[in-house]
Amino acid sequence: MTTSATAAGGPTTNGESPGVTWDYDETLDHRNRYLTPALATFQAYEKPLLLARGRRQYLWDGAGRKYLDCIAQNLCISVGYCHPLVTEAVKRQLDELQHCTTMWMHPAPGLLGKALVERLPSDGDWVLHFVNSGSEAIDLALLLSRLYTRNHEVVALRRAYHGLHFGAMSATGIARCHQPVPAAPGVLHVSVPDQYRGAYGPGVDDYVNELGATLESSTAGGVAGMLFEPIQGFGGVIPLPAEYVQRAERSIRAAGGVLIADEVQTGFGRTGEHFWGFERLGVTPDIVVMSKGLGNGFPIAAVAARREIAAAMTERKFFNTYGSNPMACAAASAVLVAIEQEGLQENARRIGASLVELLRELQGRHECIGDVRGRGLLIGVDIVADRETREPAPQLAAQLSERMRERGVILSKSGAYENVLRIAPPLCIGQEDVGAFGEAVTSAFAGMP
Ligand SMILES: Cc1ncc(COP(=O)(O)O)c(C=O)c1O
Repeated sequence: MTTSATAAGGPTTNGESPGVTWDYDETLDHRNRYLTPALATFQAYEKPLLLARGRRQYLWDGAGRKYLDCIAQNLCISVGYCHPLVTEAVKRQLDELQHCTTMWMHPAPGLLGKALVERLPSDGDWVLHFVNSGSEAIDLALLLSRLYTRNHEVVALRRAYHGLHFGAMSATGIARCHQPVPAAPGVLHVSVPDQYRGAYGPGVDDYVNELGATLESSTAGGVAGMLFEPIQGFGGVIPLPAEYVQRAERSIRAAGGVLIADEVQTGFGRTGEHFWGFERLGVTPDIVVMSKGLGNGFPIAAVAARREIAAAMTERKFFNTYGSNPMACAAASAVLVAIEQEGLQENARRIGASLVELLRELQGRHECIGDVRGRGLLIGVDIVADRETREPAPQLAAQLSERMRERGVILSKSGAYENVLRIAPPLCIGQEDVGAFGEAVTSAFAGMP
């Protein structure tokens, strides 16, 4: 069946690209025949969605069916699909100059750097280093920490997700995200202080002690740093307790290391209360890794570092062909303007609170909801087989995720056990969507324990 999404009800456009049809079977056949089979290992539904259009918080599939997107392309879409400010900025740049490598100059990267530095803690002399993906940015952050401290070991948390390229994969703390090859050396994983399902239960003392024991037993006394997500995202929406991070910071600094915040999911106002996730924790990192929401879908990532740390790389060459691409930088600058002009951080706080309230009410009616947690528009619903034992129920989570899709709401299954429904819509989601979400989720859970 060939269907035009425009004809079938999606927003109108200037026309289709040549050769594009909206035939689901043909597109799936092309994917299976010409693209890597590895794609099927990270697929939200049994049959992947064929997406045709997006506007604000909504998507339309190839057959013209509308969805409320509650995962925002894994949190990339911050200010909404095809935001006019972003579209305008990119179109303008597209017509002028589409590429400018870092060996030449263009105003866009410096302007974006300035706007980001204005949003970082004011006590630091921050500089920006632009690359193209979260994994690249993580690799760069690890390199910087090692060059600056002249130490090698980096501490990371179990269940962390920092990407799947070689260095980032080695820092990721989820077994099914590791290819069976030796990891890059120098990453020490310690238990995450998960207050719901952590190795030592609630509280932070045991987790801090484990970190101390690891520093004592597995290093020569010095570390390059500690890498952490303020709220573990793909790991199952696990907010780190502030006390843990503060005490960990003291141990890491005493061992000569720096603090590296992975803000790829938590940055840009998503957590509602703050622009950066680390602000809730009462620590100031030395390196901040960002991506996803920065570009609203355009491929851009960045490492912000204190100048003296970034300077540690100046004894050797660094070059990144596409880092600082002017179109991506223009998009990101427009994203920052949109977040501010439209009060999207406050919107994330307000709508996030409504969604959590609604989900906690649902929890009162369904035993299979073990926990509802998160901040702002980064929310996790932990689906369990038994509330007492907290045994994860991934099959139930998968069933619920499919039922939500059938009801026009896209969300994701996350966590080390794939049992956490992750809800992270574009920051522009409205109060009216909360009602639609509520109807869908109530009906999807009907008949569930
Ligand atoms: C917290 C976090 N860090 C890093 C990454 C890696 O980003 P990328 O997929 O762009 O390599 C991700 C991707 O999901 C992420 O969620």
